[in-house]
Amino acid sequence: MTTNSTETKASAKSFIKIADDEKGYPLDQFCIPKHYEEDLERVLIPEGLINDRTERLARDIVETFGNEAIVVLCVLKGGYKFFTDLVDKIQVLNRNRGHSIQMAVDFIRLKSYMNESSTGKIEVIGGDNLENLKGKNVLIVEDIIDTGRTMQQLLELMSSVQPKSVKVASLLLKRTPLSVGYIPDYIGFEVPNLFLVGYALDYNEFFRDLSHICVINSNGKEKYSIQQ
Ligand code: HPA
Ligand code: MG
Repeated sequence: MTTNSTETKASAKSFIKIADDEKGYPLDQFCIPKHYEEDLERVLIPEGLINDRTERLARDIVETFGNEAIVVLCVLKGGYKFFTDLVDKIQVLNRNRGHSIQMAVDFIRLKSYMNESSTGKIEVIGGDNLENLKGKNVLIVEDIIDTGRTMQQLLELMSSVQPKSVKVASLLLKRTPLSVGYIPDYIGFEVPNLFLVGYALDYNEFFRDLSHICVINSNGKEKYSIQQ
């Protein structure tokens, strides 16, 4: 694991890079729900590390927004763990530092995945009316940027409601040859091109009830695949 950064237009974006040959940790060194023991290959990012990294992202966010009020927009369902932990940590900073970022929360639900491959187009299938975000500073919170197409489409949708500003925090950024080149403003970890589950990331709605981010194995993929 090394620290890395990507030079972009506005700023250097920093993240923890998880290398392609990162072995992670054997399952028997962590507490894994019994019902998933046969379905995972290894632990890649333990929840404790996610928690520590999220604490730092909260600080980076607070430092960029200054004292401006924000709307934190959670992309459901995968973003819910990262969203709640991030909001909690911003609240801690609001209590203990000179910062005071007033936060409102909002939720959006998109659908774009079937099995492992993107179906291409996103569909908004839940959440409040996006019109409420007009004129607001919006922080979109997502679990993972894979190809980046979902986020690109969501950002297009967002621009049509004219928020004051939009930033994106994603816990994970996947290194994939299918990437459209989109890079979020705040990144927890850059991860190898593997299918990851846990900490609210799912495979066909399973594994959200797993604390650590793990690599699914072929048994898990088969057991929880959608028959089409
Ligand atoms: N895991 C879960 N959901 C995802 C992933 C992944 O690796 N990539 C895109 N959506
Ligand atoms: Mg997601």
